[in-house]
Amino acid sequence: MKIAPSLLAADFSKLKSETKRAEKAGGDWLHLDIMDGHFVPNISFGPDVVKTLRPESKMFFDVHLMCSRPEILLEPFAQAGADQIIIHAELNEKVPDLIWKIRELNLKVGLAVNPPTAPTAAETYLNKIDLLLVMTVNPGFGGQSFMEECLPKIQQVWEWRQSRGLGYRIEVDGGIDTKTAIECSRMGADTFVSGTGLFKKRDMKKAISRMRDGVEKNRRRN
Ligand code: DX5
Ligand code: ZN
Repeated sequence: MKIAPSLLAADFSKLKSETKRAEKAGGDWLHLDIMDGHFVPNISFGPDVVKTLRPESKMFFDVHLMCSRPEILLEPFAQAGADQIIIHAELNEKVPDLIWKIRELNLKVGLAVNPPTAPTAAETYLNKIDLLLVMTVNPGFGGQSFMEECLPKIQQVWEWRQSRGLGYRIEVDGGIDTKTAIECSRMGADTFVSGTGLFKKRDMKKAISRMRDGVEKNRRRN
């Protein structure tokens, strides 16, 4: 399992030390939310910010592009030090090319599905991706409530992984704290993004180890 603190909930006036705080607290991955003010109604930060943070940490950089034109951002984020780039299945006919381009850059490939999107939107790509992100809020903002109605989707993509003998990770993102991480883990999630649930805690180390214990005890086996 992996725990990925989401920098969107960090103190933006000190992103370097916040990055270090996440690493020292035991975060496995750093989740970086990129919003373009078009695909989602908010703007976050771009490749130059990610580049500034890269030397500060050895964490795996999980870059989540909530952007209408990710094709113009793949190379800049690769150069900035991304380890994985996640694009959205809602981009429809653009998806095959984007997957190919991310691979070409030698990065891991993630594909995300929003709450209103059926998991079948990702089905044809399952053997081409390293991670499937099941969004558990409508993307755009941190601090929203977890949407329980997304749980069956996690179950579905876990079953596909089993029956097809595939190895993609199953990530959840939005409203994740220890309680909701456990619910997702029972359905088959193995990778947990959490912004508010970790960065807003005084003791992030304690929050991460609680989440890890809870998830491990409730891991789906069959
Ligand atoms: C939502 C982003 C999330 C966000 C999660 O649009 O994709 O990664 O940072 O934040 P929390 O954990 O606060 O819901
Ligand atoms: Zn995200």
